[in-house]
Amino acid sequence: MCGIIGCVSDRPVAKTLLDGLRRVEYRGYDSAGMVTESGGRLLVRKGAGRVSEIEEKQRLSELPGDVGMAHTRWATHGGVTDRNAHPHLSCDGLVAVVHNGIIENYLELKKELSGSGHKFRSQTDTEVISHLIEVEYRRTKDPLKATTAAMGRLKGQYAIAVMFSDRPGTITGARKDAPLIIGVGDGTMFIASDVLAFIEHTDRTVFLDNKEAAVVTRDGYRLYTAGGREVRRRPTQVAWELSDLSKADFAHYTLKEISEQPQTVVSAALQDSKTLGEFAGLVKRAEPLFITGSGTSYHAGLLMKSRLNREAGIACEAIISGELKEHAGFFGRGSVVVALSQSGETADVLEAVKRAKKKGAKVLSIVNAAGSTLARESDAVLLLNCGPEVGVAATKSFTAQVVVANLVVDSVLGGRPGQGVAEVSQAVRGALGTEAEVKRLASKYARAPDFYFVARGYQTPVALEGALKLKELSYVHAEGMAASELKHGTLALIEKGTPVVVINPSGESHAESLSSAEELRARGADVIGVSDKADEVYTHTIKVQRVPRKLMPVVEVVPLQLLAYHAAVVRKNDPDYPRNLAKSVTVK
Ligand code: M6R
Repeated sequence: MCGIIGCVSDRPVAKTLLDGLRRVEYRGYDSAGMVTESGGRLLVRKGAGRVSEIEEKQRLSELPGDVGMAHTRWATHGGVTDRNAHPHLSCDGLVAVVHNGIIENYLELKKELSGSGHKFRSQTDTEVISHLIEVEYRRTKDPLKATTAAMGRLKGQYAIAVMFSDRPGTITGARKDAPLIIGVGDGTMFIASDVLAFIEHTDRTVFLDNKEAAVVTRDGYRLYTAGGREVRRRPTQVAWELSDLSKADFAHYTLKEISEQPQTVVSAALQDSKTLGEFAGLVKRAEPLFITGSGTSYHAGLLMKSRLNREAGIACEAIISGELKEHAGFFGRGSVVVALSQSGETADVLEAVKRAKKKGAKVLSIVNAAGSTLARESDAVLLLNCGPEVGVAATKSFTAQVVVANLVVDSVLGGRPGQGVAEVSQAVRGALGTEAEVKRLASKYARAPDFYFVARGYQTPVALEGALKLKELSYVHAEGMAASELKHGTLALIEKGTPVVVINPSGESHAESLSSAEELRARGADVIGVSDKADEVYTHTIKVQRVPRKLMPVVEVVPLQLLAYHAAVVRKNDPDYPRNLAKSVTVK
């Protein structure tokens, strides 16, 4: 959940590192720091706060040197303090380390290293890596050997980048269950947690495989297994355009990404028909079938499950990735896990598919990041094609997931995948047109202590998603649930003026949901109906266009995303970087 960028060049690197750091700030944003090498010394500047604050106070961009590394942190071990910010140096400043992940055996290693005289300056798990590598470097005098020897001692997950004060022009890297990617530029080499960190300079990338190490120098890179055997891998080209990374004229990435959805739902539908057919064939033959994901991706998975159950008659379960191990007894040859993930790096998802694969299950993924660990470890992959999503809240990736999941189900049913997407794109545009009205509602309700989102049947995951977005961005307590559950407990919480969003398209559950709306009104709730059909029971109606039932969630979710976004703005929260969260949850 941290962002790493390292850079070796034939010119000063601090400004390049700072730009890269800003691009990976979505991965964690409670502290940041940089180290460069100059005159045989490692120079460190770091502190708690956002990258811009630390730059303002400490001028990271003015550090001298042609080689350096930078880090943005999402705290796991040790509070958010200047000392706990990365990079971490070994005792005598010989070794600097930046790290993404968790070292599970850090206490044991810390005890051992303290016992032999090492002095620790932080409360982090990361610092043990610097001291450990220093010990190994003094023994081997070799950066690669020192790094791989440390890999042999570390338990947990990590992506690390390491510099040595007496090895100018060299960065070593290593990864286990956390991403690390090399960028091959012109006169400049990069190592980072995400291609976004260096895409401005090069689109030629090399993905490290799990438990691999790398040595990056000005002249190139070499890859090794953890045992030190060299591995040959050529760079591949990544397709994302730099223009995708600007906020354009939008105040925040989140709003830009919400606004991109009329296009991204169309690009999501552009899938290779052979891959789609193979993917669907595996889904059809699965015995048993599980669908998994975390957070928003899980909600998209629920929609997929619902159609597979009801329309294709396929018995399957959608399970939150962190809970999939409870079902591990069902994995075996013939079983299939469909994993949905924007980043393809979510630790819970990776852990779930790893366990399933071990038992012989096939893994199919619906993922946005093409070179991600999930994509590379899957038997078949469908990409979301929605471009980089920088805002921590998943918005366009959700609607893209719903579109792709629908293509799979249509293909399973032998229908015409992709039919109706143009119409949906228009309807999404229409839903964006509700922004002014939604903004008014956000101003009215942003200070409400509680918010509820209810729906029935196929729409229920949309209620869950609306509540998740609101919690995450506005920090207002929100619950999403099946409307049928209200009378089993939640109605007791409804008071005069409690805002309740009822997602209620015309169709089979319409009348029942209207009755729920009546019950809510009778208890004083302010009912916000999201529907293609206005009704006087609603205190406010957000009118959306009707599209085929299967794609209705893509349209309905848009005003809910806007509501969460504007509530965040009203409450003066930063919608792109909600507190305590990070975009890519790479720790378990
Ligand atoms: O990258 P993933 O789709 O695997 O991420 C899963 C969740 O962490 C993610 O959807 C999270 O819930 C979002 N921040 C919600 O907006």
